[in-house]
Amino acid sequence: MTDQIRLLVVEDVPQVAQYIRGLLNSQSAIKLLDVVSDGSRVLNLITELRPDVVLVDALLQGRVKGLTLVDQINQAGARVPVIVLTVPQQPVATDLSHGIHGVLAMPFTGYELVTRLQQVHQAAATMDQFGTARMITLFAPKGGVGKTTLAFNLAVAVGQQGMRTVLIDGSLQFGDMRALLKVPMEAPSLLDLPTDRIQESDLADVLWRDPSGIDILLAPPRVEMAEMVTVRDLEKTLSLLRRVYEVVIVDTPAVVNDINLCFLDNSDTILEVVTFDSTTIHSTMVMADAFRMIGYAPTKVRYLINRADSTGGFDPEVLARALGRVPEHSVGSGGALVVRANNEGIPFVLADPNAQISQDVTRTATELVGRASVAGRR
Ligand SMILES: Nc1ncnc2c1ncn2[C@@H]1O[C@H](COP(=O)(O)OP(=O)(O)OP(=O)(O)O)[C@@H](O)[C@H]1O
Ligand SMILES: [Mg+2]
Repeated sequence: MTDQIRLLVVEDVPQVAQYIRGLLNSQSAIKLLDVVSDGSRVLNLITELRPDVVLVDALLQGRVKGLTLVDQINQAGARVPVIVLTVPQQPVATDLSHGIHGVLAMPFTGYELVTRLQQVHQAAATMDQFGTARMITLFAPKGGVGKTTLAFNLAVAVGQQGMRTVLIDGSLQFGDMRALLKVPMEAPSLLDLPTDRIQESDLADVLWRDPSGIDILLAPPRVEMAEMVTVRDLEKTLSLLRRVYEVVIVDTPAVVNDINLCFLDNSDTILEVVTFDSTTIHSTMVMADAFRMIGYAPTKVRYLINRADSTGGFDPEVLARALGRVPEHSVGSGGALVVRANNEGIPFVLADPNAQISQDVTRTATELVGRASVAGRR
């Protein structure tokens, strides 16, 4: 039967493996290729057996633990959807950016197992979840923390790693990118894209090709024009950009509104910029609650501590306790280099690649979209 879904199961508890075999015995929609108990064999087996879906027990023990394996499959660009098997006491959230395409909590029936496998297989096939760009939105509930400076330099650093990169100036009212890059007022913006039937050929006339090698979708040149951008049009634009580019980076203003939520919802990663400043940290905590209420998986948000060396007497451990984790990324203060580069409209990562701040941003780019995690996407 050609429509059978080919399944690879990674399970080291014999009783659970037996239970799954039993459930799948009496049906023909799923073809069980193998059940493996050693996580370190899985990447090779995926290449060898070409499963349509992989089921991984989150509690897998041994050299490669369950969720580490899921990460490895994702990072290796294996282009196979993964369902994580867990228990209700250890909830796991679906998170495409980390390669978790579905979750099954034990106990489950044969019907639930087959239905979930079919859903995940179907979604991966129709939504082409592997063919789309990684979208990263720089966000902060507090202004002036360095979002624009970091978004630009991060985009250039990602571009330098050989990935087709587009930067979106999502500060629709007071977009800084135009001034930063000395782009003329007449240069087209987001608003110049057609609203229906937008296609790849439309991008060439609208995107600003920066000498640094990245393309930039500018914000409208005047404040009142921002209102003309609708969430519906923005969704279409993002979907097109994600098909054409490998990485989409968005700079946003410090506000929670429909447009910003559209950027955040569509992102694989929200890169939230924090500084050692008590009001910024307070707003970040308030925002963390809001993200929880919206239902974003904790792994969707990553914290970047900017000017990490300027603690102002703040104890980094207090910040880590407040956030519930150590910030995933950090960038130091760039002093005069940042001011000079911004004034000249050039990225500091190119102006002085050896400066500590440039190395910090380049390292962050690798941590976020290292080649391995995008390999094989196209
Ligand atoms: N790591 C850094 N080292 C030195 N200066 C920095 C650093 N990060 C940002 N700055 C400076 O801080 C100022 C504010 O940065 P930026 O405009 O990027 O912040 P923002 O979060 O985009 O602000 P807004 O909320 O207004 O959009 C700029 O003058 C920038 O040059
Ligand atoms: Mg800004």
